[in-house]
Amino acid sequence: MKRIKLSPSALSCNFANAGIQIELAKQGGAEYIHLDVMDGVFVPNISFGQPVVKSLSKCTDLVSDVHLMITDPIRYIEDFASAGADIITIHAEATDDVEACLNKIRACGKKAGLSIKPKTPVSAIIPYLPLCDLVLVMTVEPGFGGQKFMADMLPKCTELRDYRDAHDLDFEISVDGGVSADNAKMCVLSGANVLVAGSSVLGKEDIKGAAEELLKAANIG
Ligand code: DX5
Ligand code: ZN
Repeated sequence: MKRIKLSPSALSCNFANAGIQIELAKQGGAEYIHLDVMDGVFVPNISFGQPVVKSLSKCTDLVSDVHLMITDPIRYIEDFASAGADIITIHAEATDDVEACLNKIRACGKKAGLSIKPKTPVSAIIPYLPLCDLVLVMTVEPGFGGQKFMADMLPKCTELRDYRDAHDLDFEISVDGGVSADNAKMCVLSGANVLVAGSSVLGKEDIKGAAEELLKAANIG
């Protein structure tokens, strides 16, 4: 089984204090920092772009886990690669050429991630799995933090894990949306090893304690 990693979503930060808040999440055990880029077109919300990804990637040595919720992401892959992303995740629904996007991310020397919205089945991305370093299963409709966790998405993680293991592939499986200490164990038992969490970590008063609590709940045995 892959090691469990916490990827706090910076969407829940107070951006005036983001550096300090990310450091507290790191002290609580986070290994990744999840950066949600939204364009107001692919999702009905705007968050931030390259300048913020650059500042936040630079202010920490956590793995910069960039989640692109943007239409036609191939246009911006090089920009986010040079902004300091370590992992760049695109949406299967956002492009006509998933393969070209994943290849381009890897050609930039970055890890390639592929995400699916709740209505997209795993079968839609099977052909691309050999090109993925990470698959991100949305457990809410993308666009906003603080939504309710959709437990009925978890069978997708199991399907991905079983396919990966049967075909000798190596991608990580990430869950994003409404993840908290209450459902972390369920996520891990279903096959996820990267837990993205916004409100339940960087949205809390005690960020370090919240990260520790979530990881404790997630670690089985
Ligand atoms: C939602 C984003 C998430 C969001 C998670 O579209 O992709 O990463 O920040 O926030 P919570 O954990 O509050 O659902
Ligand atoms: Zn996200």
